[in-house]
Amino acid sequence: MTDLATRAAAVGEELDALRRDATSELAAASDLRAWDAVRVGLLGKSGRLTALLKGLGAAQSEERKARGAALNRLKVELEAAVEARRGELEAAALDARLLAERLDVTLPPRPHPPAGAEAGGVHPISRTVEELTAIFGAMGFAVAEGPDVDSDWHNFGALNIPEHHPARQDHDTFYLPAGADGRRPVLRTHTSPVQIRTMLTQEPPIRVIVPGRTFRADHDATHSPMFHQVEGLVIDRAITLGHLKGCLIDFLRAFFGIADLPVRFRSSYFPFTEPSMEVDIGWSRKTGELGKGEDWLEILGSGMVHPRVLANCGIDPREWQGFAFGMGIERITMLKHGMNDLRPFYESDLRWLRHNAASPLAPFSLAEGA
Ligand code: PHE
Repeated sequence: MTDLATRAAAVGEELDALRRDATSELAAASDLRAWDAVRVGLLGKSGRLTALLKGLGAAQSEERKARGAALNRLKVELEAAVEARRGELEAAALDARLLAERLDVTLPPRPHPPAGAEAGGVHPISRTVEELTAIFGAMGFAVAEGPDVDSDWHNFGALNIPEHHPARQDHDTFYLPAGADGRRPVLRTHTSPVQIRTMLTQEPPIRVIVPGRTFRADHDATHSPMFHQVEGLVIDRAITLGHLKGCLIDFLRAFFGIADLPVRFRSSYFPFTEPSMEVDIGWSRKTGELGKGEDWLEILGSGMVHPRVLANCGIDPREWQGFAFGMGIERITMLKHGMNDLRPFYESDLRWLRHNAASPLAPFSLAEGA
C-alpha cells in the first residue's frame, strides 16, 4: 500500500469511529438536555467533527480534497441524525406531559361539603338577586351598577324630583356633609339614579336591571335603614305600556313560580314616570297564600320614563321612549318564602341563616325562578 492509501484507510477508520460514537451517544441521550450536550460535543464550536474540519487546513493538498469531501458527508449525516433524535425526544416529552395532565373524568365528585366541614349557603337576598338576574337575563337585560353614595342631582334632580319633595327631607334621607358645590351627597334612596347614570353613558337602545343597596331612615319589622331594590330600564324607539305590562307579568309569574298569578296595574304617581303605575299581585290576606284569594298586595312601582328625564340625560324624547320599574328585594323575598320579619336578614344569626340559606349547588329553572 502506498502512503496515501494507508492514510486514506486511517481516515476512513477515524470517521467510522466518530460515526459509531455519535450514534450511540445520541441513542443514549434520554432527554433534550443530554441531547444538547451530545450535539455540542459533535458539532459545536469545539466539537469533535468541527475540530476535524478545522484540521483540514494542515493536510496535504491531494488528500485534502478526499478528506474534506468525506468529512462534509459525515457532517451532513450527523446533522440529520442529531435532528432526528431531537424530534424523537420532543415527541416523547409531549407524550409524557399529556399522560401527566390527563383528567380522569370517571373520578367521583368531591363530597359537598368536604368531610368535617359545614356547608356554606347562599343568603336569601343574594339568592333572589341571582334568580331575578337569570329571569331578566333571559329577557335580554344586562346588569348595571352605580355608587351607594350619589349626588343629589343623580338621586333627585335629574329624576324630576323637585326641591320641596318630601322624599328629600332630612327625616327620610341620609345626607353626607356638603361638598364644594354646596350640595350634600346622599346615600341613594332608590336604585333610580342608576337610570340616569346608564342613560348618560350608554346609547339607546338600553335594557338593564340594577340590583343594589338603598338607604332610608326607616326601621321596623318590614323596613330597614339599608335595604335592596332592583331597578329596570328599557329605552327603545317604540316601547309602549304593553311592553311594560308583559315584561312585569312574565317576571312576577316566573319569580313566584305561579303560572296564573293575578297581576294588577294601578294608576299612581312618580315624578320620573308618566304615566305611572303601581303593580299588585293577588293573594289571600287570611292564609297568606300568593295567587289565591280576593286580596291584592302591592309589589312594585313602574311607569313610562318621563320625557323630561330622557331630556336631562341628553336623549331626544321625540325619538326614544321607554319604561322603568323599581321593586324591593327584601319584600319579594319575604313573600316568596313566607317570612314576616325583615330584621333577621341582617342579624347574622347562624341558626336563621342555616335554616334559610339556599344551597350554592341548587339549580333553579327560568320557568319557575327557583
Ligand atoms: N324609585 C321608585 C321607588 O323607590 C320605584 C320606581 C322605579 C318607580 C322606577 C317607577 C319607576 O319607590
